[in-house]
Amino acid sequence: MSTPHNHAKPGDYAEAVLLPGDPLRAKWIAETFFDAPRQVNSVRNCLGYTGTWKGKPVSVQASGMGQPSLSIYVHELINVYGVKSLIRVGTCGGLNTKVKVRDIILAQGASTDSSIVKGRFGPYNYAPIADFGLLRDAANKADARGLKFHAGNMLSSDIFYHANGFEGYDKLPDHGVIGVEMEAAALYTLAARFGVKALAICTMTDCLITHEELSSDERQSSLRDMVELALDVAIGA
Ligand code: HPA
Repeated sequence: MSTPHNHAKPGDYAEAVLLPGDPLRAKWIAETFFDAPRQVNSVRNCLGYTGTWKGKPVSVQASGMGQPSLSIYVHELINVYGVKSLIRVGTCGGLNTKVKVRDIILAQGASTDSSIVKGRFGPYNYAPIADFGLLRDAANKADARGLKFHAGNMLSSDIFYHANGFEGYDKLPDHGVIGVEMEAAALYTLAARFGVKALAICTMTDCLITHEELSSDERQSSLRDMVELALDVAIGA
């Protein structure tokens, strides 16, 4: 059985899947890091691959941008393809001057403006959180690799271009939210609902406060560090 968004067959994905937003980054991850990569999905060019890393099976599937797109792929990866561990690898904006460009944010929690999460819990403010085991493992491995990282609260926003710019984030940075991306909260909420593990690992590429940005050369090398970290966490190396 395949799905309207994915023509892979059950068994085509490994139990652990990396989730970049960008399909060409999924291709780059498979071709750069996997041994024996094989493409398992190309519907809508939202590419997915399976291969091995350090001898262990692992997959990568592009999620597209934003929580609606990610939710479709993640729902199917869990419920049709039996995926047990989902690690988003992406970039994020910075909302705290202690987080420098190139630093990694491990999204311990993910606040959101998204009705995908907010609409589900009636009067309650649900707190989407990372799987503690994956988070602890990522923090330990980032330390061992000498990578600078911050574990904290991420904002997963449905809006990239706020009408009133940085002010659109309102009081969140004053309450410990250190970065902004567009996918983690829905990923964590789906993983919790279906009893699987999830973590979002993001490289901070553009600080919304200082307007510092990562150059394209630096972007590539820091993405490499992040992907190697995520792959080690995915296979439990
Ligand atoms: N906003 C949302 N998502 C992002 C950003 C941002 O500024 N930078 C990288 N991903």
